[in-house]
Amino acid sequence: MTEQTPPSTKLRIRLRDATAPLHNQLNQQPLLVALLSNDFPLGHYQQLLGTYYSLYDQLEVDIKCYTTQQPIAFDYQRRYKTPLLLKDLTYWQLLPSPLGCQIALPDIKSLGQLVGILYVLEGSTLGASFIAKHLQQSYGYTPSTGSAFFNGYGEHTQSYWQSFITYINGYSDQPDLVAQAIDAACLTFACFTQALTNTQLSPSEAK
Ligand code: HEM
Repeated sequence: MTEQTPPSTKLRIRLRDATAPLHNQLNQQPLLVALLSNDFPLGHYQQLLGTYYSLYDQLEVDIKCYTTQQPIAFDYQRRYKTPLLLKDLTYWQLLPSPLGCQIALPDIKSLGQLVGILYVLEGSTLGASFIAKHLQQSYGYTPSTGSAFFNGYGEHTQSYWQSFITYINGYSDQPDLVAQAIDAACLTFACFTQALTNTQLSPSEAK
């Protein structure tokens, strides 16, 4: 067997390995790189929140729709992040708006697709907690002053992640589901990169 990740491997590891190049690509996206610098303009941060809002809003509407019709054996209710983004947008006195560009977000027509998308959204809370610390240290933003989204689950981030991967690993021996999850996760990463790259920074806010 020459494949790096054997088919018997747990689903989370399969997803991690399959999406690693796309996660790296996303981490190098200029807006996210600039976010981790010490002189990211507030206007750019606000535009970034706007792009995140439009992505999460669309994805979470689809997640809610799928899980309402086909309940899953996992409580996702308290994990929706659109309310955190709305809290930040309200704090910064911004109006939520739909994506400014056409992005074909992945469909959610099967449990495998749902699991792949949730993997990306739940995993993003891990990187986000590093970002939240940076935002607090460099700019003084806190969960109640404009960075609720990046703070995410706060001190519960690791335990939420562990319970999520326990859930998805239960599907590791279902090859069709695994394949659909991997495709959906890859597409979700690509959509994030595309949406951030298409975010038009307002010239008046440029450094
Ligand atoms: C500058 C931005 C980002 C940084 C610095 C970053 C960094 C990280 C780090 C350090 C981890 C591992 C954390 C740990 O194991 O405790 C991680 C995991 C992860 N991140 Fe990111 N991340 C960023 C953005 C994103 C975004 C925007 C997404 C998706 C929309 C994402 C998806 C994931 C996923 C799915 C994992 C879990 C990988 C696994 O299975 O172990 N990340 N990230």
